[in-house]
Amino acid sequence: MNLKWLLVRRITLVALACFLTGSAFVLYETVREAKGHNSALAELVGRQLELQLSRIDRSTDIAKRFPDWDIITTYSLLPGQCVELSGHDGKTQRSSCGGMDNASVTTPKWFLQAYRTFVGGNLDAVWPVSYRGVSHGTVAASLNPAETAAQAWSTIAPLMLLSAVLVEALCLVTYMIVVRALQPAEEILSGLNRLARGDLGCRLPAFRLSEFNRISEVFNALTDELGKVTSERADLAGRLVDTQEQERRHIARELHDEIAQKLAALNALAASIRTVAQRDAPELVAEARQLEEMASGAMKSLRRTLTYLRPQEIDDLGLIQSLKDLVDQHNKISFGRTRFSFETTAEMEQLRAETSAHVYRIIQEALTNASKHANARNVTVQLNRLPDADPVRIRLSVVDDGVGRDGDERGSRALGWGLIGMRERVLALSGKFAAGPLPSGGFGLQVEFPTALRSA
Ligand SMILES: Nc1ncnc2c1ncn2[C@@H]1O[C@H](COP(=O)(O)OP(=O)(O)OP(=O)(O)O)[C@@H](O)[C@H]1O
Ligand SMILES: [Mg+2]
Repeated sequence: MNLKWLLVRRITLVALACFLTGSAFVLYETVREAKGHNSALAELVGRQLELQLSRIDRSTDIAKRFPDWDIITTYSLLPGQCVELSGHDGKTQRSSCGGMDNASVTTPKWFLQAYRTFVGGNLDAVWPVSYRGVSHGTVAASLNPAETAAQAWSTIAPLMLLSAVLVEALCLVTYMIVVRALQPAEEILSGLNRLARGDLGCRLPAFRLSEFNRISEVFNALTDELGKVTSERADLAGRLVDTQEQERRHIARELHDEIAQKLAALNALAASIRTVAQRDAPELVAEARQLEEMASGAMKSLRRTLTYLRPQEIDDLGLIQSLKDLVDQHNKISFGRTRFSFETTAEMEQLRAETSAHVYRIIQEALTNASKHANARNVTVQLNRLPDADPVRIRLSVVDDGVGRDGDERGSRALGWGLIGMRERVLALSGKFAAGPLPSGGFGLQVEFPTALRSA
C-alpha cells in the first residue's frame, strides 16, 4: 500500500472513531436525560399521591377519591412518556401517556433496532407509594424507546452528515498534499529503477525540500562514482581477458614451435628406425611402431590443447564455422545423449576479432558446462543481432533443458571459474550478463552487448 492511501485510510479510521465516540456520548446523554425525566415524574406523582393519603388521614379528603389521577393533567408528559399506578397485585389501576411525536417515524429502522438492543427498557423509573409504613402500590414512569431513539437520532444525524463531509474533505486535502509532497519521492524512485536497469547516465534534479535535495545530491554523486567504477572495472576486465588471451597465444605458440616440432621429429625418427629395423633388426620393429604411435598420440592431444588455447579456426574459418565445429564436437562426444544446436545469422561474421574471441570463449565454456552439469536432452545456442537497436546490440543465449543446477551448490567460491570468466568477458564487452536455473527448468545463459560491426 502506498503512503497516500495509508494516510487516507488512517484519517478515515480516526474520524470514524471520533464519530462513534461522539455518537455514544450523545446516546448516553439522551438516555441519562430520559431516565432523569422518568425518575422526576415517578417521584412527583408518587409524592402527590402520598399527600392525598395524608389528607385522607386528616379527613380533609375522602378515601373514595384515591388515587386522584387528575393531578397528572397538571404535568405535561413528554411525547411517548407514560405514567401508571399499579396495586400490590401488579395490576394497573390508573395510567396516562403523552402523545407520540412524528419525529420517531423518520428514525431509521437500523438505528431503532440498535437502540432497543443496547438501551432497551433501562429508562423506566418506579416510586413506591406508602403512607405511615403501609404500601399503596407503585408509580412507574416510562418512555417509549422509539421516542428517545428519535431524540438521539435527531442529534446524531446532523453530526453524521457533518463528519462525512469533513472526513471526505480532509481525505481529499490530505491526498493532494501528500501527492504534491511525494512528487520528489516518485522521481527518486524512478531514478533508482533506471539505475537498477543499468542506466548509469540517470541523474536527479534539484528539489525544493532540503531533505529530498540532499538525497538527490547523494544519488547523483553515487551514480557518478558508480559510472566511474563500472567503466574502470570494464576496462580492467577487458585488459585482464586480453592479457589472458595473449598469454594463451604465447603458450600455444611455444607449444607449437617447441613441443609439436619435437614430436614431429620424434615421429619421423621412429618411422625411420622402423624402416631400418625391418631390414636389420626385425625384433625392434614392434617397439619402433609403438614409439611412432606414442608420438602421433601425443601430437593429437597437443593439437586438442592448442585448439583449446587458441582456436585458430576463428582466424582461418571465421566465427560461425568455428562455432559450428565446436557444436559438432560436443554432439560427437555426447553420443546422442544431448543434442546441441546452433542458430545465428550471417552478419555475426562481421563481429570484430576481439569480440569474436570473447563470444567463442563464452559459448565454449557454456557448452562445456552443459555437458558437465546439465544432463540435458537439448542445448540451444542462439547468436543474433537485436532488431531496431542503435548502436548495434548482440544477444547470445545458451539454454538447456537439463537439471537446472547441480545438486552440490557449495557457496560462491565453489561455483568454479567458468561463470566468473564469462562475466568478465561480458564486462569487457560492456554488456549485461545473466546465468542461472530457468523457471521452466534447465539452465540459461543470457548475454547482451553493444558492438560495432565491420563492414562486410
Ligand atoms: N548448464 C548447466 N546446468 C546445470 N548447472 C550448471 C550449468 N552451468 C553451470 N552450472 C552450475 O554452475 C556452477 C558454476 O559453473 P562454473 O562454470 O563457474 O564452474 P564449474 O563448471 O563447476 O567449474 P570450472 O568451469 O571452473 O571448471 C557449476 O558448478 C554448476 O553447478
Ligand atoms: Mg564450467
